[in-house]
Amino acid sequence: MSETNSDPRQRYDWLQNTLHEHAHRYYVLDEPTVPDAQYDQWFQELQRIEAQHPNWITPASPSQRVGGRALDGFEVVRHRVPMLSIRTETDTEATGAEAFDQRIRKELELVDPSIQVQYVAEPKFDGLAISLRYEQGVLVQASTRGDGESGENVTANIRTIGQIPLKLQDVNFPDVLEVRGEVYMRRDDFESLNERQREKIAQGAKGEKTFVNPRNAAAGAVRQLDPRIAATRPLSFFAYGLGDISPAEQGGPSFSTHEGMLQTLKAWGFPVSELVSLCHGAKDLVAYHQRVEGLRDRLPFDIDGVVYKVNRLDLQKRLGFLTREPRWAVAHKYPAQEQTTQVLDIDVQVGRTGKLTPVAKLAPVFVGGVTVTNATLHNEDEVQRKDVRIGDTVIVRRAGDVIPEVVAVVPATEPPTVAPVDLFDTGAPMHRPRGAVFTMPSHCPICGSLVVREPGEANHRCTGGLFCSAQRKQALLHFAQRRAMDIEGLGDKLVDQLVESGFVHSPADLYQLSRDTIAGLDRMAEKSADNLLAAIEASKTTTLARFIYALGIRHVGESTAKDLAKHFGDLPALLQANEVDFLAVRDVGPVVASSLFTFLCQPHNQEVIQALINSGVNWPSEAPLAQQHQALAGMTFVLTGTLPTLSRDQAKELIEAAGGKVAGSVSKKTHYVVAGTEAGSKLEKALELGIKVLDESDLLNLLQDNPTPSAHHP
Ligand code: IVH
Repeated sequence: MSETNSDPRQRYDWLQNTLHEHAHRYYVLDEPTVPDAQYDQWFQELQRIEAQHPNWITPASPSQRVGGRALDGFEVVRHRVPMLSIRTETDTEATGAEAFDQRIRKELELVDPSIQVQYVAEPKFDGLAISLRYEQGVLVQASTRGDGESGENVTANIRTIGQIPLKLQDVNFPDVLEVRGEVYMRRDDFESLNERQREKIAQGAKGEKTFVNPRNAAAGAVRQLDPRIAATRPLSFFAYGLGDISPAEQGGPSFSTHEGMLQTLKAWGFPVSELVSLCHGAKDLVAYHQRVEGLRDRLPFDIDGVVYKVNRLDLQKRLGFLTREPRWAVAHKYPAQEQTTQVLDIDVQVGRTGKLTPVAKLAPVFVGGVTVTNATLHNEDEVQRKDVRIGDTVIVRRAGDVIPEVVAVVPATEPPTVAPVDLFDTGAPMHRPRGAVFTMPSHCPICGSLVVREPGEANHRCTGGLFCSAQRKQALLHFAQRRAMDIEGLGDKLVDQLVESGFVHSPADLYQLSRDTIAGLDRMAEKSADNLLAAIEASKTTTLARFIYALGIRHVGESTAKDLAKHFGDLPALLQANEVDFLAVRDVGPVVASSLFTFLCQPHNQEVIQALINSGVNWPSEAPLAQQHQALAGMTFVLTGTLPTLSRDQAKELIEAAGGKVAGSVSKKTHYVVAGTEAGSKLEKALELGIKVLDESDLLNLLQDNPTPSAHHP
């Protein structure tokens, strides 16, 4: 048996065994070790071989059943109406829907092009199918799909899902009703579940693990033998179909379309997705495919495609079934969000603040719609927990807008095909060699400075500061960003070139660049060189707050920079301050104070600051806060809704310029809530807490008239 054997019979046997093994891992153990795409690929290959050699097929072939088998712990229940699967359109282009529409039209003998078939398009939810049986309106049984003919009785676990009605809501329901749909886990619920699992593991809990993706977490919860544990796993549900149901003569409902059926399910209390959409003809299906694909990353749950269904039930009946699949429905998949690939190397990247991140360099792989060659491994503990090593085959996941990550290693299931030669004949068992266990380097891979890991921290850091060119690049990008010195056009590629060519060591060097130097860089046209020079020149006039923020001092974000600027009024006062002075600044605690003091003590940083001033960086000086009478000093505002003339940012700037502070949420410490139109829960909270509510003109009056001097500020 081998993975690459060219003898079709041997290949067929290998595929059967491999598929059995992975089906078991997936369905029984809830611990798949290969992504679905790989499983599907093997499955299709098996089907191709079977098409060529039908006499090889036995009832035990993986192709002869739809799913896995019941776990020993659950009672097996027979589905009175089988739970079918649906055909998958292989064409991943949006236009794949046209082939489906054409098939349907042909079956229905529709020739008049002005007559369009009505469809319902739905997301293909990435969870697990469940059948819910209601008798006299009460949930009596919930079962998994199993092999489609019989599944497992998971009623106790399903009862814990709040979204599933235990009793139907409307009175108008049939005696017997089976509702089918998908149990899934939301992405945010999945993240917090894994977070909790990681904490448990860190505290030494035995037998706990993190989950690879929301679907496996959902499947694990539903098939959890202890319902008390299942109840702690946050699950959700969408209804999309029916199984067994009493006929209309016996009190059954009388809808005539799939859409009507979904409406009725809603009325009975089932969640039905907002994304379900009525479509006319292939054009609408194609548009739906594209629209939902555009939304995919932003949805709160995973979907792996869309499903199209013929809307009219009489037409569904006419179309009927092809062995185990209805002819009236098709699934149309999106690019997979998980793939396997090989780890070519493990690199360590250095961020602006010196944080070291292990990054897996991958054999290029198409996942989640893009080609991925790098995936984050987060930190040393994560690499060791997942035991990722160079040369390993891994599952890479890219879902939503998140950075691609390595989720797990695919164990090498096969013994080595060629035994390595044991030259010294030690007699020791030989294994396929794996790369070494990953450890963080003791010195920065970029600058060679010492790497430290502070106690209680997951991250390692380079201590090189701006001496480290990686940190220098990041520091320059930070310095140039819009909210800092705002040097338009100074991006990644340019910064790389400027640092690597040695023209720029510190932000101050940017102001010494000549036109010739810039024009000599790669891909730099004369015109863009002039634009960049102009942007650098323009950035010289700034504010003290932006300047402080631009320095990239650890823990000093935009709002702290503003507080510092206001407190000290000008640079010399700031440079002379010690830790205690910093602690007197609003919102500055010991961590920030120490970080500021350490930064400003470094002779190197002092030089850079001086050079920046010498090259003409300037700002209007302000009287320090202590000498000002600020209208709104010490007052906290919350903004909500849309104001008639001011944007959020403008209102915030005005309040801050007058010494006030703008917070994100309403609490007892809030002095005023400024509300515009469509103000929501913040306004309610303000009214509840008895906090004064202002409109825009009240705010403007307050800004002009309020003679109150600095209230309590130091
Ligand atoms: S309809 C007879 N609709 O995809 C048609 N299935 O192979 C029955 N799925 O096992 C399925 N979203 O778990 C249908 N909107 C949707 C679905 C959906 C996800 C899953 C379901 C089923 C598989 C189809």
